[in-house]
Amino acid sequence: MTERAKFSGRIGFILAAAGSAVGLGNIWRFPYLAGKNGGASFLLIYLLFIAFICFPIMTAEIAIGRKAGLNAYGSYKKIGSGSWGSVGILGIIIGILVLSFYNVVAGWAFGYFIEIVFSDLLSVKDYGTHFAHYVADPSDNLFFSMGFMILTALIVSQGIQKGIEVANKIMMPGLYILLIALIVYSLTLPGAMKGVEFYLIPDITEITRHTFLDGVRQAFFSLSLGMGALLTYGSYLHKDQNIVSSAAIITLADTMVAFLAGLMVFPLVFSAGQSPAEGPPLVFMILPKIFQDMGPILGRIVGGSFFLMLCFAALTSTISMLEVPTAYLVDEKKLPRKKTVWTLATVVFIMGLPSLLSQGTKGFDMLNKLSFYHGRDFMTFISDLADMGLTLSGFLLCIFVTYRWKLFNMHEELAIGSPGYMSSGLHHFINFSIRIICPIAMGILFTMLMLEKFFGLDNIF
Ligand code: PFF
Repeated sequence: MTERAKFSGRIGFILAAAGSAVGLGNIWRFPYLAGKNGGASFLLIYLLFIAFICFPIMTAEIAIGRKAGLNAYGSYKKIGSGSWGSVGILGIIIGILVLSFYNVVAGWAFGYFIEIVFSDLLSVKDYGTHFAHYVADPSDNLFFSMGFMILTALIVSQGIQKGIEVANKIMMPGLYILLIALIVYSLTLPGAMKGVEFYLIPDITEITRHTFLDGVRQAFFSLSLGMGALLTYGSYLHKDQNIVSSAAIITLADTMVAFLAGLMVFPLVFSAGQSPAEGPPLVFMILPKIFQDMGPILGRIVGGSFFLMLCFAALTSTISMLEVPTAYLVDEKKLPRKKTVWTLATVVFIMGLPSLLSQGTKGFDMLNKLSFYHGRDFMTFISDLADMGLTLSGFLLCIFVTYRWKLFNMHEELAIGSPGYMSSGLHHFINFSIRIICPIAMGILFTMLMLEKFFGLDNIF
């Protein structure tokens, strides 16, 4: 039997895992959720969730993967035996669902990048209408989302070190450089400080149930938890590596990008006199108008950099999503890696078509307004379903570690490569979080999402 592939070292693992975490969630979803939920208040709550819920779950996920050295299903099964493998299967299924629509949004970013640099996105009159037409017209979209899936498959098919690691080593530093350059630029604009104030000074009267719900949901998604992505990457990690400090760096890197994305977007939005509470289209409708106002040359440079950064962020995430089912099929069914990757990419791309066609495409009213889902569109349905699956998977992970694997076994794994771990007292915090805080929080979130999304009980609370 050939030896299982491994990341070449710590940096390779950290960059790949941070690449998975940093994605559209940070640059596209985080700013609009923060904008909708009162800016700084949202940021504050988000940071609490990251520290008390997500960081401990992340260490546990990586520890499971490294201990078992297998894919999501195989790892749960090997450590837990019996039917625990189904928790891994749940993660794999959710990952496929998320990738199917995530790739569509990544395709929009890819299309906007090409259009702003090589075509006439900067001469559009009304960006709201343009975006609505753009997402409703499948011709370009189909092409760009297929292109994005092909890029993802090309990288994943090259394997861990030559594909995933190399791609992340190039794209992650590139992303940070572009982000910092854009922040410096946006902070120098007149009126930028109003955006900074909105983003950094909390107004606690703005905190509602939605701030909590959106915050914890976003934190979980942003750190790529619950889909087995970090578990799978953990299975390629050498035994002598320090999981706890790596997880801390990954968490910090991800949180930093979300924070910095807000610091870039809000000054731009306020300096252009726009509203921060635009919702999902914030990045696609408001920002292009701002790039347009910069003139054709500067607009191309700044706007092009922005959408290129969005593509980098998305690509480092889609490759981690595709790796999860790939690892499963390669490990468990002994299928050849390349063929598996291309077959999966094709299947997931096809699964994404209903999402792609659900954004106003003519002749697809059924998908645009789902009768069984309160008239919401198909992409929203899949995204909500996936978020619920993620929380369920996070809940089950805590139950698995606490009652099946046992916390002391997890600590033993975490202590390998981290000699000071047990004496640092950190394990008390992780214990408390995995045993008490996380299952309660995940349980509440799952119930609330279910009631709110599926039973339409939004107005009851
Ligand atoms: N964390 C990614 C983002 O914020 O965009 C999304 C993601 C990637 C979620 C990989 C889950 C995953 F397994």
